[in-house]
Amino acid sequence: MNSDLKHWINANLQSQKGKTILVTGGNSGIGYYAALALAKVGADVIIAGRNAKRVDQAVRDIKAEGIEGSINAGIVDLASLKSVQEYAEQFRTKYSRLDVLINNAGVMMPPEGATEDGFESQFGINFIGHFALTGRLYDMLKSTPGSRVVTLSSIAHRGAQIDFDNLRLEKPYDTRREYYQSKLADIIFTLELGRRSDAKGDGVLSVACHPGFTKTELQRHLDPEILGKMTFMEAWQGALPTLVAVTGHVKSGDYFGPDGPGEMGGFPALGVIDGAALDAAVADRLWAVGEDVTGVVFP
Ligand SMILES: NC(=O)c1ccc[n+]([C@@H]2O[C@H](COP(=O)([O-])OP(=O)(O)OC[C@H]3O[C@@H](n4cnc5c(N)ncnc54)[C@H](OP(=O)(O)O)[C@@H]3O)[C@@H](O)[C@H]2O)c1
Repeated sequence: MNSDLKHWINANLQSQKGKTILVTGGNSGIGYYAALALAKVGADVIIAGRNAKRVDQAVRDIKAEGIEGSINAGIVDLASLKSVQEYAEQFRTKYSRLDVLINNAGVMMPPEGATEDGFESQFGINFIGHFALTGRLYDMLKSTPGSRVVTLSSIAHRGAQIDFDNLRLEKPYDTRREYYQSKLADIIFTLELGRRSDAKGDGVLSVACHPGFTKTELQRHLDPEILGKMTFMEAWQGALPTLVAVTGHVKSGDYFGPDGPGEMGGFPALGVIDGAALDAAVADRLWAVGEDVTGVVFP
């Protein structure tokens, strides 16, 4: 394991022994390092991804690091609501508790495409798939004391808007705009879930985080020339805001990111949520869309 990450874990991470933590997209990048660190300090971690080979390889790699907890694989394609439903059912038969769900998986600026259910792929994977997964596992979260949902957003949520007339590629594809929209949806979801949990006394915290600019496979669709001009953190460092959101003393609505200029790099601190994420009417409408199109009503 990278010695800087080891040092950070020793200085900052308390034992997570006895906790069951599910990380979507945990086979790569930020999810991988978050899973590794959490398993290292005793958590029972499940990494759920769409590609069995890659997920199994990540499980082997994490085991080889000598963990205190456990690491297991799950296969789910967030671009398919059927797959999400099947995976949630499997998860419920295999595990008896869920302390933390980390909604981490994501795609950024891919070529135009749609999910199995007809959503623009970034909105469909980054938001709709996670909405459905969270809803389908929500009763397990509710019955696990001190549970939380951690959702990955991005600086890109700033200045974005939810265009309810363009969730299914109704308008000409704009790869950047659609990514920004999906990440705004993630943070609106976080805030709304927290409000709903608090109002009903569910005891489930809902927290967001982002990794600034971190070099991972997320940038696979970007122009290498543009990438070459950007400054990135390494993936282990980009995972630190996630680790604080998962293990820290937090309250619903908290949002962690790197503490450097523009929140692009640095070490975890509270970040700034854009005003666009605070519109209650948009949040209500987005939630209604989520329930309607997924058929998942949070219990
Ligand atoms: N890196 C950054 O600078 C940055 C900045 C802001 C926000 N973020 C957010 O951080 C999160 C993690 O991204 P990363 O940077 O670690 O990128 P990454 O290395 O590409 O990891 C993304 C993970 O999501 C998985 N995934 C993609 N589509 C999926 C699907 N349909 N079903 C299930 N899993 C799927 C990927 O699986 P495969 O391995 O099979 O592709 C991969 O495991 C994302 O939500 C991203 O938006 C990252």
